[in-house]
Amino acid sequence: MDTICVQSAQSSPSFVCACVSYRQDSGMAMWRVRDFHDDDLDAVIRLWDDPNAGDSEPVFTLSELVAAVRSNEPAVVATVGDEVVACAVAELDKDRAWLLRLSLSPDWRHRGIGSALLSGLEERMLAAGVQRISCLLSSGSEVGSEALEHQGYRSRSGVVFFEKLERVAPTDRGLLGQLGGRLLRPDLWDSLRGMAREKELIEQRVVLPLAYPEMAARAGLLPPRAIVLFGPPGTGKTTFAKAVASRLSWPFVELFPSRLAGESPAGLAAALREAFTQVSELDTVVLFIDEVEEIASLRGQSASSTTQGVTNEMLKLIPTFRERDGRLLVCATNSVRALDAAFLRHGRFDYVIPVGPPDAEARSAIWDRYLAEVPHEGLDLGAIVSRSEMLTPADIEFAARRAAQVVFERSVAGEPDAAATTEVVLECIATTRPTLTPRMIEEFEGDIEEYARL
Ligand SMILES: Nc1ncnc2c1ncn2[C@@H]1O[C@H](COP(=O)(O)OP(=O)(O)OP(=O)(O)O)[C@@H](O)[C@H]1O
Ligand SMILES: [Mg+2]
Repeated sequence: MDTICVQSAQSSPSFVCACVSYRQDSGMAMWRVRDFHDDDLDAVIRLWDDPNAGDSEPVFTLSELVAAVRSNEPAVVATVGDEVVACAVAELDKDRAWLLRLSLSPDWRHRGIGSALLSGLEERMLAAGVQRISCLLSSGSEVGSEALEHQGYRSRSGVVFFEKLERVAPTDRGLLGQLGGRLLRPDLWDSLRGMAREKELIEQRVVLPLAYPEMAARAGLLPPRAIVLFGPPGTGKTTFAKAVASRLSWPFVELFPSRLAGESPAGLAAALREAFTQVSELDTVVLFIDEVEEIASLRGQSASSTTQGVTNEMLKLIPTFRERDGRLLVCATNSVRALDAAFLRHGRFDYVIPVGPPDAEARSAIWDRYLAEVPHEGLDLGAIVSRSEMLTPADIEFAARRAAQVVFERSVAGEPDAAATTEVVLECIATTRPTLTPRMIEEFEGDIEEYARL
């Protein structure tokens, strides 16, 4: 947003008593300027909400305005009878003051009220030792600029207004720390290589409706609140969950059932309830539970009544979690068939998404990413990709690290131009035990048939 910065430098601050000014309007109505009282807050908020009463794209927010008046920063209102028709609020910062808002009801413009409000406010600011008063207005904002000019404020050309919004509200920061949550790097989504099918699906079904809720609402689409990711180990389920949080710029909180169980003497079910309650206080969050089969296993087959109690607790917690916007529960499992059928049903989880072994294209992209960091020469990527058919992304990352180790050892041994060759990488693949087995892949394909919901 372009802004006009107007300011007034007070060369010799003179102390003027805060006073009430009365004026006879030409229409015979009497208005007066006085200090803001707590009772005026509703009227001031109403004026804020009226797009014709002030800057419609204000730089300062309503909560900043409310915080200022609550902490007795200088604020004045103009009244006609009992009605508040205008207000001006400032905030002091040593000998500088920022004019946060000048609102004037459209019915009362061009009667000198704006100028009178400003001088009333200035009296209070000068009394507090202010030397310089500044005001940021959107370019084109009429309300305010007239009064400011009348009062001797000058607009400064060539000023560009920069701002950076902290992504986590201050009130959420402490809680996020307690929950071990954090904001993730913004580039995680892009660092996920290959897996084009999964990426596209998760982007369309999950990321975009959450990122553009108004557009989703116009299309009659309810953004998802909870999803399950399933697939063999190391295929990128956790990485996808983090990448979604990073794309949305929402904090990422992971719950570890094994840790929670130890934290509460009342047991895992109580600890889960407590954790969900705490999480519900965050403005926005991606809540991640890995190996969710530990807490939502098949009730008929679970080992003990304690496990059943935990599963029942999870079944109760999810509907409450779903009630609010700005949150997504992501549960991941290697063993979707071990999950309780009631847990997976519609209404609890919006999508049950397979994250499978990387195909040749994905393996090529993943090798490319991890080998880019290793000095190499003349690599035959085709040979590397076809030899790594049963490797997961995690295995590829591991094998690439082995190649880096070989290069490092050769450098230490005095080979200044040591680099990974195709032979080196193939050797590293040969010594990396693949996570995937033909049986696992077969089971995974069966699970897609039976459980996937996209
Ligand atoms: N598409 C990808 N591109 C690059 N690296 C990837 C990709 N997917 C996963 N990785 C890397 O592989 C490793 C394992 O991924 P991740 O932990 O997400 O797998 P997982 O499916 O959650 O495994 P588990 O089932 O064991 O929990 C991570 O270090 C991650 O960075
Ligand atoms: Mg994981």
